[in-house]
Amino acid sequence: MSNVPGPQSLARQPAGELRPKDAGRRVRLQGWVGRRRDLGELIFLTVRDRSGTVQVLFDRLRCPLEAVAGASEARSEDVVDIEGEVALRGEGRGNAEQATGEIEVIATRVAFLARSDTPPFQVEDRTNAAEDLRLEYRYLDLRRPAMLRNFVLRDEIVFRVRKILHEKGFLEVETPMLTRSTPEGARDFLVPSRVHPGQFYALPQSPQIFKQILMVAGFERYFQIARCFRDEDLRADRQPEFTQIDIEMSFPTEEDVFAVVEALLADAFAAAGIACEPPFPRLTHSEALELYGTDRPDLRFGLPLVRLDGVARGTGFAPFDKALAGRGGAVRGLRVPGGAAFSRKKLDELTEEAKRFGAGGLLWIKRAEGEITSPAKKHLSPEALSAVIDAAGVEEGDLLLIVADREKAASAALGALRLRAARELDLLDETRYRFCWVTDFPLLEWDDAAGRWFATHHPFTSPREEDLGRLEDDPGTVRARAYDVVLNGTELGGGSIRIHRADVQRRVFQSLGISEDEAREKFGFLLDALRFGAPPHGGIALGVDRICMLAAGASSIRDVIAFPKTTSGTDLMSRAPSAVSGEQLRELGIAVLPPGKS
Ligand code: AMO
Repeated sequence: MSNVPGPQSLARQPAGELRPKDAGRRVRLQGWVGRRRDLGELIFLTVRDRSGTVQVLFDRLRCPLEAVAGASEARSEDVVDIEGEVALRGEGRGNAEQATGEIEVIATRVAFLARSDTPPFQVEDRTNAAEDLRLEYRYLDLRRPAMLRNFVLRDEIVFRVRKILHEKGFLEVETPMLTRSTPEGARDFLVPSRVHPGQFYALPQSPQIFKQILMVAGFERYFQIARCFRDEDLRADRQPEFTQIDIEMSFPTEEDVFAVVEALLADAFAAAGIACEPPFPRLTHSEALELYGTDRPDLRFGLPLVRLDGVARGTGFAPFDKALAGRGGAVRGLRVPGGAAFSRKKLDELTEEAKRFGAGGLLWIKRAEGEITSPAKKHLSPEALSAVIDAAGVEEGDLLLIVADREKAASAALGALRLRAARELDLLDETRYRFCWVTDFPLLEWDDAAGRWFATHHPFTSPREEDLGRLEDDPGTVRARAYDVVLNGTELGGGSIRIHRADVQRRVFQSLGISEDEAREKFGFLLDALRFGAPPHGGIALGVDRICMLAAGASSIRDVIAFPKTTSGTDLMSRAPSAVSGEQLRELGIAVLPPGKS
């Protein structure tokens, strides 16, 4: 066996690019050993590099002894340097699943550039390895061709986004990472200042204020592929650090923002062969809630919710009466075609799901073989029952799910059940991509627990001019010039036309319970900027990770982020976060309380 790399004369050949036309060529491969199969006379190795894999054959009858000895020692993930000749595999020996499946390399030399310990899992697309193990040995996980493909796609998407925005006259400008807290609604990650003991920078939750200030500065069209940080509960589509395509424009209407985003998304998704077909349909926030029970509707299927308040009123059925007695109560339904076949167990699961989304309970009505079955049958008169069934358009074989509760809980629960039912009925077509805009969000949302109004988007979002008069007296009815772009039930991006007048900004702060002093302390620099000729402006931010996840057909953004965190916010490879030395803490003027004392 030779450990010395061979003659440097032969250029390195990308393994995955070899084709039948290369038969007869002498080639040199450098890459990782995949699998080794030792059949006595013949030893097969697969060699992988970024371009793909190829089969390499060591034939004891034709190959120098030294090379055969080397091949028989090769282990998965060793790094090898191989020379040989490309040959056609011949009839019946091809592998149609592999791009290089019609050829193989008949080796004449092998050297080891690096040896590998036995990997904790086989580097192959089909893996049973637990995600935690994959994250701990992320470099091995990223060697899997399916993972590499995600990053090739991500690179292409980001490249296209930069190109299209550059062509449309947007300037890419970097904004600070060490900054002040920005109000996007999550907790900040804080960075202590050594020079100013007791003071902290905040990592940006988004570049929101800076991009608005760039509009005041006259840049007119800004974008940034911006890293953002939010200390919030994590899920499949949320990470503590993530990337936005952040956009801001001066003198825009909503239409201008929509046109830029639609062109950008069409180009980005085309990288994955996905057609977008702008213009995207639009729904107002209230239409989205009315029809789908959520502000991020999945439009791949119908199953609209129905309103049953009219027929539920006066039936004497306690849950209906209770819901409709107070202000803001509703009786809402979801007709599930074919759902009469759902088992009792499934209905119990749906009930649990409804409760998870805040509903007090779930009522079901089945219509099968001409019979109506429902736990409500003994409480509702036959007339009332058929009025409900007719109002919901229930047909033979259908199931009707009803939630009587506060409007918000009823919508949220049925919105979740709509998705669940679609999954049960196999209506979630993975090959369809249905984009939409959701517009006219309410400016403010009431939070019962906190007992005050919060900005639905953020405090710099402009109210609609015609609603501004109600800001002080009936704030809940003021609509915002805010919009989200949604794909298959995932929010891809959100933005708004901003407030560019200091007096309106002051009124919105007031309605949020932010005092003049607090506003000055937190956003004084923005308020100052608004006094020096701020143009009307607006924009949006799109989640790069979510775009890449959906374009790649991945089920989590972790699969399109090279080194993501787990749902508990740890990096299993680098073991961050970690304790730091007493010395470092002293320098920063920080004392750490023992656990439980915070
Ligand atoms: P917003 O908070 O809606 O708006 O965020 C915009 C988009 O960023 C993505 N996103 C996330 N992606 C992964 N992990 C997260 N934790 C996460 N949080 C948000 C989503 C979301 O739609 N400054 C405003 C934009 C503006 O008004 O222009 C903002 O940040 O895809």
